[in-house]
Amino acid sequence: MTVHIGARPGDIAETVLMPGDPYRAKWAAETFLTDARLVNDVRGMLGFTGFWKSQRVTIQGSGMGMPSLSIYANELMAEYGAQTLIRIGSCGGMQPYVNIRDVIIAMTATTITSPSSGIFREINYAPCADYGLLAAAVKAADLKKTKTHVGGIYSSDVFYSERPDLDEQMVRHGILGVEMEAAELYTLAARHGRRALAVLTVSDHLQTGEALPSEDREKTFGDMVEIALEAAFSGD
Ligand code: HPA
Repeated sequence: MTVHIGARPGDIAETVLMPGDPYRAKWAAETFLTDARLVNDVRGMLGFTGFWKSQRVTIQGSGMGMPSLSIYANELMAEYGAQTLIRIGSCGGMQPYVNIRDVIIAMTATTITSPSSGIFREINYAPCADYGLLAAAVKAADLKKTKTHVGGIYSSDVFYSERPDLDEQMVRHGILGVEMEAAELYTLAARHGRRALAVLTVSDHLQTGEALPSEDREKTFGDMVEIALEAAFSGD
C-alpha cells in the first residue's frame, strides 16, 4: 500500500492503462478484461486488475491534471514496479482536419509547466512517447481502420483557458489536440526508465465547438482502449 493506492504488493500488473476518470477505469475493466477485480478505491480513484488475452493488466484512474496523474504514476512506478503506462483519455481537437471521434497518438506533449518542470530549471525538456509503443499503437489503429493522427499534443494546466493566444500558437505549430496529463506521464516514465504513451479520443473541438454526444462515447472510447492494449502487448 502506498499513500494514495490501497493495492497490496503484487496487485498491480506491469502494464497499466490510465484513464483520467475512475468510472471509465471501471467501464474499461468490465468491458475488456476478464476476472477483473478492484485493487484500489482510495479517494474513489478506482483501479482494477484483470486479464486481456491472458495478459495481466491494471486499469487505474489518474484523476484530472498533471499534479493528480503525477501522484499515481509515481507510486505505480516506484512502489508497484509498473513498466508500461498508457494514458487513455479524451482531448480537445486543435486542427481543422482533426475531427471528434478521431484518435490521436501523442508523439510529444508540450507544456507551459508541469509538476516536473521545477527540476529542469532553465531547460525546456521535451516529453516524448516510447517509440516502440507508439509504432505498435499506430499499427493497431491502422488495422482497426480507426481515423488516427500521430503528432504533438498540448498538456495544459487549465480546462477553462483565459489565454486564447496560447491556443492559437499551438494551432500554428501543428499541435493536434489539448489535454491535461500526458506531458507529466512521459517525463516520469523517462525518469524511471519505463515506457509510456498517450492514446486519446477527440471528444470536443476548440475551433468548431462540437462535442461528442454522450451516447457515442462508449464505442469511440472502446477503439482507444483496444489500441492501447494491442500496443502494450505487441512484442509478446
Ligand atoms: N481542454 C483540455 N483538456 C481537455 C479538453 C480541452 O478542450 N477536452 C478534453 N480534455
